[in-house]
Parts: sequence; structure tokens; C-alpha cells
Amino acid sequence: MRATAMATIAVAAACSSTPRSAGPGPGGGPPTASDGVVAFATVQAVLQHPRCQNCHPAGDAPLQGDDSHVHLQYVKRGPLGRGEVGQECATCHGPANPPSNYGLHIPPGVAEGWRMPPPEEPLVFVGRTPRELCEQLKDPAHNGGKDLGGVRAHLDTPLVTWGWDPGFGRAPVATPRAEFIAAFERWVAAGAPCPE
Ligand code: HEC
Ligand code: HEC
Repeated sequence: MRATAMATIAVAAACSSTPRSAGPGPGGGPPTASDGVVAFATVQAVLQHPRCQNCHPAGDAPLQGDDSHVHLQYVKRGPLGRGEVGQECATCHGPANPPSNYGLHIPPGVAEGWRMPPPEEPLVFVGRTPRELCEQLKDPAHNGGKDLGGVRAHLDTPLVTWGWDPGFGRAPVATPRAEFIAAFERWVAAGAPCPE
């Protein structure tokens, strides 16, 4: 009892003696719109990392490598995002990354099936300005009909988590995954503001 009373007094004293800060410091208060814009810069850097943007090109061919060159073998998106007949992604991309001892330049894979977004909804990351990227991410016509909670859930799926475990010889996304998720959630909590 006595300890609780002492603690209450201590907290009250701490509160009254701490000046109210002008804005939310790290970890305090809800994020403001400008905090959201800052957080979005982290999100943008991830979306436009080669591991992510190579499946989110402006055209109908996926891209490869850290220089995001056009995919060899004339591979194209196809009607469902799974490749043209005879050139399906799954012909070369299996259900997991092959073992490291297979060497470099081996097609990576994920359990849910390698594919790119379908043609009706080509969520484009390559060459988009931060503002365009931001508007597109919020637009259900481009994100699979999702609200931002749905987009957040998508970030835990194998196609996305693959970016941090991309197989032998490929650099993972530079931003740590936890930092990316925290930035995305902070951006949403700030009302998902887009940069100018
Ligand atoms: C192998 C190809 C591939 C890679 C690599 C990839 N994506 Fe995607 N992404 C897709 C496909 C396909 C969709 C469309 C939704 C679906 O089919 O699940 C999509 C959709 C999305 C969406 C929109 C939500 C939705 O359901 O449409 C976001 C956000 C996204 N990807 C983020 C990322 C991020 C972040 C990375 C990198 C860490 C990444 N993607 C890497 C294929 C890929
Ligand atoms: C004929 C075989 C083949 C087909 C078909 C194929 N790929 Fe690939 N893909 C490869 C190979 C091989 C690599 C590895 C290249 C390397 O590491 O230099 C690769 C790498 C990739 C990468 C690069 C990953 C990265 O970030 O560097 C993406 C993205 C990709 N493929 C998407 C697709 C999509 C989407 C399809 C179907 C529309 C597809 N591929 C169909 C053989 C294929």
C-alpha cells in the first residue's frame, strides 16, 4: 500500500515538473502529419529497393539484379501475373530459394508461388515520385482492393518477406524489416499523409 502511494506521488511529481513538449517526441504522443511524411520516406526507400521494385516494374517485364535490368528470356507478366504460356514464372521459380551451393544467378522462390501483380492492377514502384507512390499505395484500385490494414497484412506474406531473405548472392533490402514495419505503422497512425 505504502509503496503504491509513494509511486503515485513520484509519478505526480514527475508529471508536474516535466515541461509539456511542443510536439510528440520519440515514443510520446500520436504522430503528426509531418512525422508521417518522414516515416513514409523509409517506406519509399524499401518499395524502390531492387528486391521489391523488380516485381513492380512500369512495363510488363519483371526486372533482375541490383541494376534492375529487364528480365532475360523475354519473360512477361502474362494475363494473371504468372507469365505467358510456356514462360510461366513457376517453370523456373520454385517454392523456395535453392540451396546456396547451387551458386549464383539461380531463380529464387517462395512457397505461395512466384508472380508479379496482374495486368489490371500493375502496382508500379519503379520511377514513381514519393507522392505518386504514396497515393498509389492507398488506392484500392492499385493495391488489391485493400484498406491500409489489408496492405499492412500483406507485408507479412512470403513475397514481401522474401526481400530480406532473397537467396544466395543477392543483397537483402537495405532497411531492416522491423524498421520498415515500424515506419509503415507510424505513417498509417499519422493518417497516411503523402509528401508534396
Ligand atoms: C516475386 C514478385 C514480388 C516481389 C519480389 C515483391 N512483390 Fe509486392 N506484390 C507482388 C504481387 C504479385 C502483388 C499483388 C498481390 C498478390 O498477388 O499477392 C504485390 C503487391 C504488393 C503490395 C500491395 C498489396 C496488394 O495485395 O496488392 C505491396 C504494398 C507490396 N507488394 C509490397 C512489396 C514490398 C515491400 C516488397 C519487397 C520487400 C515486394 N512487394 C516484393 C509481387 C512481388
Ligand atoms: C526461363 C526461366 C525463368 C522464367 C520463366 C522466369 N524467371 Fe525470373 N529469374 C530467372 C533467373 C535465372 C533469375 C535469377 C537471375 C540472377 O540472379 O541473375 C530470375 C530472377 C528473377 C527476379 C529477380 C530477383 C532480384 O531481385 O534480383 C525477378 C523479380 C523475377 N525473376 C521475376 C519473374 C517473374 C515475375 C516471372 C514470371 C512472370 C519470371 N521471373 C519468370 C529465370 C526465370
